[in-house]
Amino acid sequence: MRPEWLRLSKSVRLLIIFASIIVLLFLLSVDHSSQGTSQNVIAEKSCKCKGETFCFQVENLIGEMFDCSLLKYLKEFHLTESDIANTEIKNFNYKEVVFISYSSSNHFSESRQMLTDFRKKFQNKIIYYDIGLNKGELAELANVCNLEVRQFNFSAYPAHVQTLGTYAFKVMIEAEVSVSYNVFWMADTSLVFQQLPVLQQFYLDVKNGKAPEFMIGQKVAKEIQFTHPGMRRYIPFPGKYRNESQREAVLFFRATPTSKTILKWAVLCALTKECIAPSGSVLYCGSPPASGCHRFDQSSSSLLFRSFYPPDTAHYKYYHHCAKPVRGVLIKIPLSPIHCNQTLS
Ligand SMILES: *[C@@H]1O[C@H](CO)[C@@H](O)[C@H](O)[C@H]1NC(C)=O
Ligand SMILES: *[C@@H]1O[C@H](CO)[C@@H](O)[C@H](O)[C@H]1NC(C)=O
Ligand SMILES: *[C@@H]1O[C@H](CO)[C@@H](O)[C@H](O)[C@H]1NC(C)=O
Repeated sequence: MRPEWLRLSKSVRLLIIFASIIVLLFLLSVDHSSQGTSQNVIAEKSCKCKGETFCFQVENLIGEMFDCSLLKYLKEFHLTESDIANTEIKNFNYKEVVFISYSSSNHFSESRQMLTDFRKKFQNKIIYYDIGLNKGELAELANVCNLEVRQFNFSAYPAHVQTLGTYAFKVMIEAEVSVSYNVFWMADTSLVFQQLPVLQQFYLDVKNGKAPEFMIGQKVAKEIQFTHPGMRRYIPFPGKYRNESQREAVLFFRATPTSKTILKWAVLCALTKECIAPSGSVLYCGSPPASGCHRFDQSSSSLLFRSFYPPDTAHYKYYHHCAKPVRGVLIKIPLSPIHCNQTLS
C-alpha cells in the first residue's frame, strides 16, 4: 500500500510541477512578447521620423525624441542615415584644412589677435562667420588674405538660435561648413594655434586612425556638473561616466561616418532649445558649480564625444595639443592688410 501511495503522490507532484512549468512558460512568453511589442513601438514608431532615428541612445539609455520637423535640416546638411552611411573618407593634405571662426563686435578685438597670430603661421583658407559685426570690422576682414566672410543666416533657424548665448549658432556653422569641406577646425575668437609641424603630427595621427575624427579641446571641468540636467534628457548620461571631463574651445572635424553621426545629434540638440539651452541654464558656474551651470555646445559635444569614444578607448584618451585659448588679449587698433605671402617662410 505504502509504495502505491508514494508513487501516486509522486506522479501528482510531478503533474503539479509540470503544470506549473507550463503556466510559468505561458506567462513568461506572454510577458516577453508584450514587452517586445512595446519596445518595438518605441523604436519603430515614437523614435522614428520617416525612417530616421530621432532618439539618441547610449548603452541602454534612450533619450527623448527630437521633433520630426528638424528632419529638413538633416537633409540640408547631408546628415541623414543614408548620407552618413555613404560618407566617403577622403585623404587630405594640411593645405586643404579650413579654419572656421566667428565673431560679433564685442569679441572682435580678441579676434584681431587670433587672426594676426594665425596668419604668421598658416596661409590656409579661413571662413569667418559674421554674427554681428559693423562695417569697419568687415572692411578689416576684407583685407586679410584667403579669408571668406559669411553672414550667418539667423532667419534660417528656430528663434532661439538668434540668442547668441545659446551657442546654437556654433553647431549650425559646423553643419553648414561640413556640407562643402571635408576637414576643418572650428576656433573660438581667443584661440592660438601651435606651429604647423605640431598640427601636421596631429593630421598624421588622424589619417593613421590613431586620433579621433572629431576632436574637441582640452579637458576642463567635470562634465556632469557643467551640464544642465535638461540636456541629459535628450543626450543621456551613463552614471559610470560621472567623473569624466568636459572639453572646450576648439573642434577638429574630419568627415567620416562617426564624426557625421556625432554632428547629426549635435545639430538636433542645437535646434532644440530645451536641449542646447534648457530654461534655467547659466554659463557662469562658480565653484562649486551652481545649479543651472551649463556649457551649451561644449556640453553637448562633450557628452557626444564620450558616447562615441568611450573613456576606455584609445581615441577618448588621445589628445594632441594643437591650440589653446588665450583670453583677454585685446587689439584695439584696426588690422593692417595681411598678405599671405609676406608671412610665410
Ligand atoms: C536665409 O534663410 C531664409 C530662410 O530659410 C531664406 O529664405 C533666405 O533666402 C536666406 N538668406 C540668405 C541670404 O541666404
Ligand atoms: C567619482 O569620484 C569620486 C570622488 O573622487 C569617487 O568617490 C567615485 O567613486 C567616482 N565615481 C565613479 C563612478 O567613478
Ligand atoms: C603678395 O600678395 C599680395 C596680395 O595678396 C600681392 O599684391 C603682392 O604682389 C604679393 N607679393 C609677392 C612678392 O608675391
